[in-house]
Amino acid sequence: MLHTTPLFMLAGLLPFISSTLAATAVNWQSIKTSRGDKLPDFSFCGYHGSDKSLPSESSTPLVRVSASSGDQTSDIQEALDKVEAAGGGVVELGAGTFKVSVGLTLASGTILRGSGIESTQLTVSKLKVDVPLFTLGNGTSQSVKPSLISRITDTYVGIGATTVKVENATGFEAGQTVFVSRAATAEWVRANGMPIWYGTGRNKLGFSKYMDSYVAVYTAPATSNEMGIENLSVTLNPTCSGYVFDVTDPCNAAGIWMTPWTVDSFVRNVNMTGFNNAIDVQHNASRITIDTVAFFRDRDTDRPGGYPTDINISGSQVLVRDSGQYGLATAKAFAVITQARVPGPNAVLRHTIQSSLQELYPHQRWAHGLLVEDTDASVLFIDRQTAGSGQGWTMNAGVAWNTRGPINVQSPPLGVNWAIGSSGTVDATANGTMLKTGKSVTPRSLFAAQLHERRNTAT
Ligand SMILES: *[C@@H]1O[C@H](CO)[C@@H](O)[C@H](O)[C@H]1NC(C)=O
Ligand SMILES: *[C@@H]1O[C@H](CO)[C@@H](O)[C@H](O)[C@H]1NC(C)=O
Ligand SMILES: *[C@@H]1O[C@H](CO)[C@@H](O)[C@H](O)[C@H]1NC(C)=O
Ligand SMILES: *[C@@H]1O[C@H](CO)[C@@H](O)[C@H](O)[C@H]1NC(C)=O
Ligand SMILES: *[C@@H]1O[C@H](CO)[C@@H](O)[C@H](O)[C@H]1NC(C)=O
Ligand SMILES: *[C@@H]1O[C@H](CO)[C@@H](O)[C@H](O)[C@H]1NC(C)=O
Ligand SMILES: *[C@@H]1O[C@H](CO)[C@@H](O)[C@H](O)[C@H]1NC(C)=O
Repeated sequence: MLHTTPLFMLAGLLPFISSTLAATAVNWQSIKTSRGDKLPDFSFCGYHGSDKSLPSESSTPLVRVSASSGDQTSDIQEALDKVEAAGGGVVELGAGTFKVSVGLTLASGTILRGSGIESTQLTVSKLKVDVPLFTLGNGTSQSVKPSLISRITDTYVGIGATTVKVENATGFEAGQTVFVSRAATAEWVRANGMPIWYGTGRNKLGFSKYMDSYVAVYTAPATSNEMGIENLSVTLNPTCSGYVFDVTDPCNAAGIWMTPWTVDSFVRNVNMTGFNNAIDVQHNASRITIDTVAFFRDRDTDRPGGYPTDINISGSQVLVRDSGQYGLATAKAFAVITQARVPGPNAVLRHTIQSSLQELYPHQRWAHGLLVEDTDASVLFIDRQTAGSGQGWTMNAGVAWNTRGPINVQSPPLGVNWAIGSSGTVDATANGTMLKTGKSVTPRSLFAAQLHERRNTAT
């Protein structure tokens, strides 16, 4: 289902209004650098790569749990386990307040549904070091062994490319899952002005002998899918909102933790209050939708340094839409961040913030392909140089589309980030590819236009 906003529909229905909006049309398909880089196709983000709608909100639950007094963690966990044993389904929580503690886990095929954000309220009084409130999936940190590897022979593979040439195509077949890995040689890292850290001796798959770019066929580990949390509110009281530096502090534990390699899962229509790190999508998790999730911050950061995070993305094909930060306007936070070497694509649509202290800010070391569109949030795709642990260039192939907040979009020496239709203040050091600055553009949503285009050209 295409997600349309009221204004988008209005513009379609009432052309005389859209003309007064004075948006400039942009042919996004024709945007190309001299090297051949194109805008990445972000339409593959989300649950099932946006080829499927989220599961119906009104399917019949298999198990119902009513609110009662006392801690209900085991009631809820037993219900989730029962549904898992039955081969999957929905656990529905009734109206009322449920006291819970950390450590709830969802397995493949299980959905935890409340009766609405207004009526089902979960409360938790404390977190525990490294134990999320909710863990989705059983994935662990692990690498895969490719069954076939071949070097890429193209001298340059542009951003948004859909084909590559390999040295030896024997054994490659349609339907296989592949990694496409770029060489990360010391020279490349140095030429990008990045601190040498993991640049020498190994590349993304950790094979020291493959210092070239290559395509590898692999089978993903058997992990979890089709999990969801929806239609409820969860409050951490006393609050953990605000910066806590020490990772051994319980306040740093995540509210919702998507384990590595988790796929096709979602969080929808959820309000979360008091979490410092609300949703964490781990490395190699993919095709995740975070839809209409509100993060309430009720306390500001309590010391200088890094900010806390609402959504922390290490995975790919993550779609964050119609979500945002609420509560205290002065609560500094990274609303959405990406971590190191996140391959993308990831997309953040219509993100709400309360002030420019709340930023969409990729965090470290060459994450790739993030779209942020139709938002008032500040957007930073920059060289963080020696900040943190020497985080360097945080983003390549990033696209800021119809942003209204202050932005700083810079391009790495060997890459490109785009800002298209940015009507907010542009930082003086922004040297990314800036198109149609100072106005909004059509299509209003690049994501929707790309999804439409992909569906129309599908064979
Ligand atoms: C989900 O929540 C909304 C309100 O937030 C409510 O209108 C709807 O009925 C809920 N759906 C179900 C299946 O409980
Ligand atoms: C949930 O969040 C929304 C913001 O998206 C807010 O308007 C609403 O009042 C919140 N509801 C509850 C019950 O906290
Ligand atoms: C993700 O996959 C890569 C490639 O197999 C591997 O090197 C890395 O350790 C994985 N990360 C996690 C958290 O599983
Ligand atoms: C191409 O790959 C196949 C399968 O791995 C191998 O048997 C063959 O020897 C390779 N050919 C060349 C020219 O390297
Ligand atoms: C994790 O869950 C998946 C899906 O249910 C299952 O196939 C896999 O065996 C589980 N892995 C472990 C380590 O339990
Ligand atoms: C984000 O996730 C990464 C990977 O799990 C973790 O190392 C980091 O501490 C998290 N950052 C924040 C601010 O939560
Ligand atoms: C943008 O500015 C940075 C910092 O000065 C520089 O490293 C980078 O090469 C510039 N990018 C381009 C494309 O010129």
